[in-house]
Parts: sequence; structure tokens; C-alpha cells
Amino acid sequence: MAKPVIWITRTLSGATLERARRDYDVIWDAADRPASAEDIVTMSAQVDGIIPCHSEHFTAEVVAQLDPRLKIVANHSVGVDHCDLPALKAKGIVVTNTPGVLSDATAELAMMLMLGAARHVVAGDRIVRSGEWDFWSPAFLVGKQVTGARLGIVGMGGVGRALARKARGFDMEIHYHNRHRLSFEDEAGAVYHETLDDLLAISDFLSLHCPASPETMGLMNADRLARLPEGSVIVNTARGNLIDERALLAAIETQHLGAAGLDCFGTEPGGNPAFAMHENIVMMPHVGSATLRTRDAMGFKALDNLDAFFRGDVPPDRL
Ligand code: DGY
Repeated sequence: MAKPVIWITRTLSGATLERARRDYDVIWDAADRPASAEDIVTMSAQVDGIIPCHSEHFTAEVVAQLDPRLKIVANHSVGVDHCDLPALKAKGIVVTNTPGVLSDATAELAMMLMLGAARHVVAGDRIVRSGEWDFWSPAFLVGKQVTGARLGIVGMGGVGRALARKARGFDMEIHYHNRHRLSFEDEAGAVYHETLDDLLAISDFLSLHCPASPETMGLMNADRLARLPEGSVIVNTARGNLIDERALLAAIETQHLGAAGLDCFGTEPGGNPAFAMHENIVMMPHVGSATLRTRDAMGFKALDNLDAFFRGDVPPDRL
């Protein structure tokens, strides 16, 4: 029997590509460029399934033009804000994602950004690297201590809970806001705040881990940033549009916010050039899940979903 034809839009891990080629007729372009709307529409007539990343956008307009041959979009991401889910569902296209497997890697990056933002990593690295380090004083690059501080986590899904576990190792006091209160076991001592505003008021550090949706777009606006304690640090490894970037910039410029650590931006790729002049904004290019182990796990999960679908089963991560 002929193998199903799948299109892998980006360069996935070597082990993923190897397994995919073993089980499928794979179309993959080593040029590793994000696919345009036109590419997606054209390819939909040539394949039975697609493994896209968050860089490929299945908007309602694109979905309306998809060929009926395409049966499944098996995302290589946990976030699916790049997919118009109702439009795909209406078209009968199955959509899956990769929850769970990237929680630790993303939480590690959130921890790194939090520590780096708190301890002036951008300025420190620049000073040493450039050979400008000709001075030392107890007043030099004095940061904000993480140990014992209150960490507010917005969204206690897999990544939020993984961050809480790591932050406990730094003796942080964990607070959270979530759509639903967690069970006693999952809370593991974290303090639940029924409203986001209550959480903001006590967050020395705030880390965002909720999905991007029309409801959470611009969640951290000027008003909410103002509710954070003076000198607090905000971290975002979720999605750029959770933060109003102009408001963030203003809060950094007035020094209401002490620092920020960002892996996600409103414009990707690219980021926000206005942030570049502030060394208390630590930035990474959306690489929260970019470890080899996690890339393998994400790729394998996407393939597990495809395998189940083409076997005639319900894929484990069907949305
Ligand atoms: C995700 O899985 O949503 C990450 O942001 C990588 O795409």
C-alpha cells in the first residue's frame, strides 16, 4: 500500500526526519523557510497531512482555500494560535499539537531569562566581552535577588507547573492565577489568586504561561503593568501578543519595571528594535523549546498523532 504523503514545513530534528521518512512519503525542503499562505494552499493539493510549526499561519482565508486532499494538520508546537481552529474544524481537517513534552525546556528558558534579567546579564556580558571591564565596586551591577522572592505565574498548565517546580529550587514563593484552581497535589503549596489583578499586586517576578487567544491578547497592558510592584521583573516565554509592547517599553523607561526577559514578540521573526537600547531587557529569539531532547520529543509526538490518524484512531493530542 502506498504510504501517506506528508509535508514537513521546517527542519525538524534528525531523528524525527528519519522516522518520518521511514513511515511516510515525505516532502521537506532543507531551505527551512517559513511557508507562505500560497505555499500552504498549493501544497494542500499534494499531501494527506502537514507537520507545520507556529511559523506557518492557517488563517481562515488560507483554510478556505485548502484542497480536500489535506486531512490532518499535526502541529509541531503546543501553541496553536497560528491555526484558525473553528475554520479547520468546519472543513473537517483534524488538528493536533504537542503538549507536555516541551514544558521543562521552556521553563528552563523562563528561569534563565528571569535570572538574567534580575542580574544584568546583558550589561555584564557586554562589559566583559568588549574589554571595557576596568572597574569594580560593591555598587556595580547590583541586581534583584530571586531567592525568597514572590513569583507570580499566569497560566498553570504544563509549562507554568514546570517553572513552579524549578523556582521552588530557588526558594521562591509560588503564586498563580489560572482559569481553574489546581488540585491540592498539583498546587504543591502554590498560592492561588482568583483574579489576575490580585496576583499582579504581589508578584516580584511575573512569568506568563497562558495561551494566546482573543481574550488574552494585550493581557499585560499599561494598567496591568502598573499593578505590579515597583521594580518587578516580567518574563514571557509564551506568545508576544500577551504583552502590549509599547506599554512594556514605557514601564521600563519610567523604571516602574526593573527588567524584562522575553523570548516572544509581537513581530516574529524580528522582535522589537525599540527594546534593543535597554540592557535590562534580556531577549531570545523564540527558542524556549529548542533543546535536542525536546525537539525529538516534539517531532515524535507530531508523528505519533499522524500515525494514529492514518491507522484510523483518534490522535492522542487531537484538539
Ligand atoms: C510552541 O510549541 O508553541 C512553542 O512556542 C514552539 O513553537
